[in-house]
Amino acid sequence: KKRAPLVVANWKLNGGTDLICTSVASVLNKSFKAEVGIAPPYVYISDMVNFLRNSNILVGSQNVSKFASGAFTGETSAQMLKEVGCTFCLIGHSERRQMFLENDASCHTKIERALVNGLMPILCVGENDQQYELGLTQDILYRQLHQALPNLELQGKRLCIAYEPVWAIGTGKAASAEQVQEVHQYIYQELCAILGEEAAEGVQILYGGSVKKDNAAELLAMPNVDGLLVGGASLDPEHFAQICTIAN
Ligand code: G3H
Repeated sequence: KKRAPLVVANWKLNGGTDLICTSVASVLNKSFKAEVGIAPPYVYISDMVNFLRNSNILVGSQNVSKFASGAFTGETSAQMLKEVGCTFCLIGHSERRQMFLENDASCHTKIERALVNGLMPILCVGENDQQYELGLTQDILYRQLHQALPNLELQGKRLCIAYEPVWAIGTGKAASAEQVQEVHQYIYQELCAILGEEAAEGVQILYGGSVKKDNAAELLAMPNVDGLLVGGASLDPEHFAQICTIAN
């Protein structure tokens, strides 16, 4: 593994000023070997950036608009996110695909917007329960990767993929480390096919889905697991800090 692992908290539609204060306090007084990022809801990003300005903790967003500017009520552009201090954004989280009509084409546009504006995209991919039961994991990933990633200008830019099997999200039923390794190996193979080997080497592949302090070490011990995307456990600041400490 060439880089330190990346551990990202995705707060989803949770948290508020209290959680910002307790989270900031629990990550600020520790030094992690891992790179750590937090993605709070949009409205808290500026506060978070402000509180963490003397640290190396990254702040990011959970989504980004596919539009640059104009009459798009309720949207937030990549340029705006960059301006307020974001360094990364999640794109195509399964909850956005399921509930907000996000698709592979919109993911592609959003990745382009993020890259052009200097944000590191974290593209989320993964199969749902039914697809998993039918043995379609690789087919789904193939489609998601091959439609979202072609023709990107990645020179000097960073890109991450987060593999999140939908059946493992918020269920307490994480995929086993061996399962995750096998899928990440497949993702890496397809990244090589789409981006070329050199660019693929630089892409970190994170795992998300019921990550806790109890399974973080075994997941990160896998050769193709380069980091973690943490939902529920990141809402408990001490728990999240423990996961970040385990990741080294
Ligand atoms: O983005 C985070 C994932 O959806 C995982 O959520 O850790 O609550 O299962 P979870």
